[in-house]
Amino acid sequence: MPTLDVAWARAQFPALAQEVNGHPAVFFDGPGGTQVPQRVIDAMRDYLVRSNANTHGAFATSQRSDEIITAAHAAMADLLGCDADEVVFGPNMTTLTFALSCAIGRELRPDGEVVVTRLDHDANVAPWVALEERGAVIHTVDINVEDCTLDMADLGRQITERTRLVAVGYASNAVGTINDVAEVVRLAHAVGAMVFIDAVHYAPHGAIDVRALDCDFLACSPYKFFGPHTGALYGKREHLTRLRPYKVRPASDQIPDRWETGTQNHEGLAGVTAAIDYLADLGRRAAPAVSTRRAALLAAYEAIRPYERALATRLIAGLLEIPGLAFYGVRAPLGFDRRVPTVAIRISGKTPRELAEFLAARGIFTWDGNYYALNLTERLGVESSGGMLRIGLVHYNTAEEVERLLAALNDLARNR
Ligand SMILES: Cc1ncc(COP(=O)(O)O)c(C=O)c1O
Repeated sequence: MPTLDVAWARAQFPALAQEVNGHPAVFFDGPGGTQVPQRVIDAMRDYLVRSNANTHGAFATSQRSDEIITAAHAAMADLLGCDADEVVFGPNMTTLTFALSCAIGRELRPDGEVVVTRLDHDANVAPWVALEERGAVIHTVDINVEDCTLDMADLGRQITERTRLVAVGYASNAVGTINDVAEVVRLAHAVGAMVFIDAVHYAPHGAIDVRALDCDFLACSPYKFFGPHTGALYGKREHLTRLRPYKVRPASDQIPDRWETGTQNHEGLAGVTAAIDYLADLGRRAAPAVSTRRAALLAAYEAIRPYERALATRLIAGLLEIPGLAFYGVRAPLGFDRRVPTVAIRISGKTPRELAEFLAARGIFTWDGNYYALNLTERLGVESSGGMLRIGLVHYNTAEEVERLLAALNDLARNR
């Protein structure tokens, strides 16, 4: 099994050297956005110095911009396992998803049904609920509250012959559950429905293969996997060609251009390629024999998964020993194939905000609230009392950082 070179990985991220109140900063805020390797910063700076221009011009900077955009599509295609023209870039996942929902709304029959879930970020709920304006009927799949997994029996009931689209997350950004998206695709395709997968939270943790999944659409956000603030959408070529996005007339009607409304974030796209190349180099260090960038990316995730799993195992075991702690999500190590290292907790007598502030003073960055997973915090009954504290690990975090967090929370809980 490829082994992660954590020391090399950490050395790539200049932000990790920061200190807060004399403590080395601990970045457990990755689910809200990860730090970037130096090469991403260099690529963005280099774009602005050498290539800054709009596209399709007759001169050098414009031609370099065209090449940089082409390269970003190729890099993203390697990450997702698709062709470069099936990758659409945009400002973020939410904006791309609203654009897609508008286009799907234009072909939806009035009695069409759409299925969303209680586990999802609202960016994979609100754009589909908006289709009610087009006469769509929305169904919401429930969760198993005891471990925050998707209720697959309920999903089976909600999908009917009238279902046109099923929108599901690959992994929950709040409690870390990985959904059986392959099974969701199977159930949806059996009735002729399309499937949209929100892979924003999964992408930093696990390899994605849109062809193997056979999903119709999949979205992710490079700023959650070590790149700049951009969004990306995969769509099957047949859908990207058939659907009609709103677009300006002079823009090309080819895919993916017809979906890439207006001028893109060119420096961001230069950074996306650099972020994917960083991951590929991480994979090459773990498995030097790999040949293609896609193979190197798969090797990177093969190294990332067990490393993150070991961190999560220690984190969760330590958390469960803290008096007065409520834990939301999959907690038994045997189930850890079904989670990423993102955990949500509460500690009695403290609001999640107070916990986050306590940790922040010690240089430990965590999130509190609902992180837009509103259906979930409402279902768990925590929305009106500050949501949950979210501790989100990625591969640049360490066992020592986990121990620091556990020591701090133990201190707080035992000295209340
Ligand atoms: C699971 C999930 N989906 C969607 C989004 C929205 O992504 P973006 O900020 O790119 O619109 C987020 C952001 O936190 C997320 O975690």
